[in-house]
Amino acid sequence: MRAKIIGTGSCLPEKIVTNDSLSGLVDTSDEWIQSRTGIRSRHLVSSKQETTLSMAAKAGQAALEDAGLLPQQLDLILVATVSSDFLTPSTACMVQKELGACHAAAFDINAACSGFLFALNTVDAYFQAGIYQTALIIGVETLSKLIDWSDRSTCVLFGDGAGAVAVKASEEGMVACLQGSDGSGGDILVCKSRRNNNPYVHTGTDLDYLYMNGQEVFKFAVKKEPECIQSLLQQAGMQPSDVDYYLLHQANYRIISSIARKLKLPLEKFPSNVGHCGNTSAASIPILLDEVHKKGMLAEGNTILLSGFGAGLTWGAALLKW
Ligand code: ACO
Repeated sequence: MRAKIIGTGSCLPEKIVTNDSLSGLVDTSDEWIQSRTGIRSRHLVSSKQETTLSMAAKAGQAALEDAGLLPQQLDLILVATVSSDFLTPSTACMVQKELGACHAAAFDINAACSGFLFALNTVDAYFQAGIYQTALIIGVETLSKLIDWSDRSTCVLFGDGAGAVAVKASEEGMVACLQGSDGSGGDILVCKSRRNNNPYVHTGTDLDYLYMNGQEVFKFAVKKEPECIQSLLQQAGMQPSDVDYYLLHQANYRIISSIARKLKLPLEKFPSNVGHCGNTSAASIPILLDEVHKKGMLAEGNTILLSGFGAGLTWGAALLKW
């Protein structure tokens, strides 16, 4: 049995922050941000009530309702995030409590922007092994709390939000999937962000924020993601044109267009919401999937390919029948 997506959901914070309003915070412009990234605005949490947990639970609940599944029917909850509210309990356990999914095992996965794909592949492996039959997978980030809001090279890129899918074990659904990591490249995208309070270890008192070498990440993405997609298609014995839609990690529209060009495919096959969501890391692919699904763009039997890259370094892809 393989993983079949049977419902989607998402949750975006109410506050929309435009490029123009960021130009009041740092020395930037709508023209610079749009031309380099395709981003026009992003949603950012703006109250104590909006948290990683609150967005994850709302997106998860919406996916269950879309699937017609009750929380009590879930065997597994996986949450992909690098921005949990707590170190422990995990966001997945907190979502379990919030939804009342009393029979589910729950844990978090940290593979940065590839996290949702790592979680989907993990669920698929559990289903293939016959261990579980139903799962809820949530990608959620509140990256706004990890960003240095005086650093114009990163603060304009990211947004907050959550996306979720309900998944069941089925004869059809997942066709092929892959994931990979290269820890030797980890220093191009780093967030330490935690003080060590051990009196025997002197680490200073500064909080670190997200650091990114943008050009190196760009080079990694435009090389690795098409390779990853090609190798997945090869594994499935399919051509790039056999796929109806490519739902890629929404980091930068220039990266998405470069991948479309490398695969010699029209941009219509690459739906994108980076313009109004920015980069929501582990949440980006499930938020986009929910948007595409709710717009009625997916028909039963469509072939979709999800793919992304992220800090770690990590990358992953999944080829599915809708
Ligand atoms: N507004 C105005 N100017 C800016 C801004 C800004 N927000 N940010 C940087 N600049 C300036 C720089 O200071 C630099 O000025 P200088 O030439 O005087 O030194 C100039 O713009 C060019 O900076 P670069 O970093 O070379 O700009 P680049 O064209 O590479 O674009 C960008 C930067 C958009 C970050 C690009 O490198 C990129 O998209 N990289 C990939 C980022 C990405 O995908 N991250 C995902 C991270 S998380 C994940 O999803 C894995």
